[in-house]
Amino acid sequence: MKIETLQTKPIEGQMPGTSGLRKKTKVFMQPGYLENFIQATFDAIDGGMGKKLIVGGDGRYFNKVAIQTILKMAAGNGVAEVIVGKGGILSTPAASHLIRLNSADGGFILSASHNPGGIDEDFGIKFNGQNGGPAPENLSAKIFDATKTIAEFKTIAADDTDLNTIGTTRLGDMKVQIVDPVESYQALMETLFDFPAIQTLFKGGFTMCFDAMHAVTGPYATAILEETLGAPSGTVVNGTPLEDFGKGHPDPNPIWAKSLMDLMMSDKAPDLGAASDGDGDRNMIVGRGAYVTPSDSLAILAANANLAPAYQDGLAGIARSMPTSAASDRVAANLGIECYETPTGWKFFGNLLDAGKVTLCGEESAGTGSSHVREKDGLWAVLLWLNILAVRKKSVADIVLDHWQTFGRDYYSRYDYEDVAIDKASHLMQSLRAKLPDLAGQTVGEMTVSHADEFSYLDPVDGSVSKNQGLRISFEGGARAVFRLSGTGTQGATIRLYLEQYSKDDIGRDTQEALQDVRHAAQTITDMNAVIGRIEPDVIT
Ligand code: G1P
Ligand code: ZN
Repeated sequence: MKIETLQTKPIEGQMPGTSGLRKKTKVFMQPGYLENFIQATFDAIDGGMGKKLIVGGDGRYFNKVAIQTILKMAAGNGVAEVIVGKGGILSTPAASHLIRLNSADGGFILSASHNPGGIDEDFGIKFNGQNGGPAPENLSAKIFDATKTIAEFKTIAADDTDLNTIGTTRLGDMKVQIVDPVESYQALMETLFDFPAIQTLFKGGFTMCFDAMHAVTGPYATAILEETLGAPSGTVVNGTPLEDFGKGHPDPNPIWAKSLMDLMMSDKAPDLGAASDGDGDRNMIVGRGAYVTPSDSLAILAANANLAPAYQDGLAGIARSMPTSAASDRVAANLGIECYETPTGWKFFGNLLDAGKVTLCGEESAGTGSSHVREKDGLWAVLLWLNILAVRKKSVADIVLDHWQTFGRDYYSRYDYEDVAIDKASHLMQSLRAKLPDLAGQTVGEMTVSHADEFSYLDPVDGSVSKNQGLRISFEGGARAVFRLSGTGTQGATIRLYLEQYSKDDIGRDTQEALQDVRHAAQTITDMNAVIGRIEPDVIT
């Protein structure tokens, strides 16, 4: 085998965002683009020599081609062994589990998550470390620095590897193991949940629709829900991963999973509706006529987790991202456990999970997970819901209502303003930042500001500080507005406005109506209409 050292030069803008590097697929397909990022990663982790890595992706366009490039570069960098999901498929949580199960040094996960796929859409890649979690900020910075000075990359001249045959082969001196993408993930799920109780639930006629959105969870959901737990065939819809996700947005929320939402709001609704995203780490939960917001879902799962075998001894703590509603804080207070507020993005949960400070984590963007892996996990959340439903023998709607009656309701909604000109978006953020110190005490319409600041996070485990993590305005009476720029968009800037309003007793209102005062206050304070030229968002979730 001949290791080749090929010349390259830096390409601008290879900065990993909230979850790795995401760009248009055609950007990734430029000569040297993927190679530079992979080599920069090897350089940032002190080379590949003797290492063991996991590689797989969500099956989107360019997945297989990218994997062949990565395998050859891994061999060129002296990697000892790579474990790859058959067909190049691995969901993000399954990849995280494989890293941990095999004590690997890390893994490359190829995905742009919930962004559309295809030659004209998005591609992405991220490196997860030994703990199975996304690269922490300092490693991402090191990778980015390496992309700025890169001059060459290492690879080998070899034929492509057959990704479709389970078993062990070699690529040069490197061992390549092709594994079933579902098997070990399913085995893990069986240790966490009461599968017999869920089997009994389905035997009793419980019905469900799981929308895999033509993305990676199709094979996982079919094997676990239909073939193991006994859900009738046809429970999983859109279950074959497609390179362009059937031209959809594989994002499990009421907007992009609209056909599932329509079904759940109709008189044909099954007992439970669920969906997952492109790479299988997000989830949507909806009962018959009852959508569960991700923030509420986290709180409800936390309050009921002890009903599942893995969590029967209770939770160490709960973590949520800052823009996520305070619903889970109320549960933590009730359970007498710690709750943590972290910046957006799963990587911040990793330290807390590794240190045993928390058991459950979640984000408003439909990500929920636990200490079983170091990524959010869509199917895991669905299985925990099923376990709770099997034990409590109540409908989703009744469980949600029970929860609100006990804890009060955190009305919540996120507004996304997409493809905003970058200068306008930063003007909005800059001018709000400048106003923050003087906001407390001001009254806007019905609302009085109680506190305003820019979120900065001191990691309680490693002492690192992450600044500029979102501008937040709290109001008297339990309302809050948060402004943040997305770190995962691939075109222009995306402004996210997160709105919430707590009510102890008034739990039956329409969400948007309950949020109208805080929305008005947030838009007035920022003078949004004048600064970015719109107040109507592109997407409301
Ligand atoms: C978005 C979500 C965030 C999530 C990330 C990756 O990031 O808001 O919660 O962790 O995708 O799935 P953003 O675009 O807001 O930076
Ligand atoms: Zn995802």
